[in-house]
Amino acid sequence: MLKQKTVKDSQVEMRMLVMPNDANPHNTIFGGVVMSWIDMAAAMVAQRHTGRPVVTVHIDDISFKAPIRVGDQCCIKAAINYVGRTSMLIGVKVIAENPQTGDVRHTTTAYLTFVALDDVGKPVAVPEIVAKTDDEKRRYAEGKIRAQEIKKKSKR
Ligand SMILES: CC(C)(COP(=O)(O)OP(=O)(O)OC[C@H]1O[C@@H](n2cnc3c(N)ncnc32)[C@H](O)[C@@H]1OP(=O)(O)O)[C@@H](O)C(=O)NCCC(=O)NCCS
Repeated sequence: MLKQKTVKDSQVEMRMLVMPNDANPHNTIFGGVVMSWIDMAAAMVAQRHTGRPVVTVHIDDISFKAPIRVGDQCCIKAAINYVGRTSMLIGVKVIAENPQTGDVRHTTTAYLTFVALDDVGKPVAVPEIVAKTDDEKRRYAEGKIRAQEIKKKSKR
């Protein structure tokens, strides 16, 4: 496993078309569908960063700020923000776009913690992050504080 990786090495962007079977009776997306897309995008980042099997251990601070409607395209952007020894904090942003009007809305941001596993399913050390841009450096500093708060909460 490499000792260091850049944020760009593992970032993921996926696009989903919201279909009728993704919706609730009000024709807006069912929250659990968005959550599964968020978990999947973040898992792919963690897999790319480590080259190992990974599991979700925590999902932090998820809120839905604007509705996503049937027919919208959802762009899910995920990037690694911070790493501990065996854990990784991944930030995910969901943007909805109406392809007819071009209207774009930032609907959700979430932070997920993943742990990399060795061949017997035990936590294993992950590569460090090289944060290059100002945004990556800011996310790293904020991610460090968030990861410490999550650790404190999970110990309670
Ligand atoms: C991942 C797993 C093997 C870790 O086992 P563990 O006994 O907690 O291991 P550790 O105490 O050594 O913790 C490993 C890392 O995870 C972090 N961690 C553990 N529980 C956490 C939690 N609830 N939230 C955030 N981080 C957590 C620890 O802080 C540690 O991070 P670090 O190495 O970067 O300091 C175990 O928690 C597990 O199997 N969980 C189920 C995962 C799963 O099935 N997910 C699918 C979705 S439900």
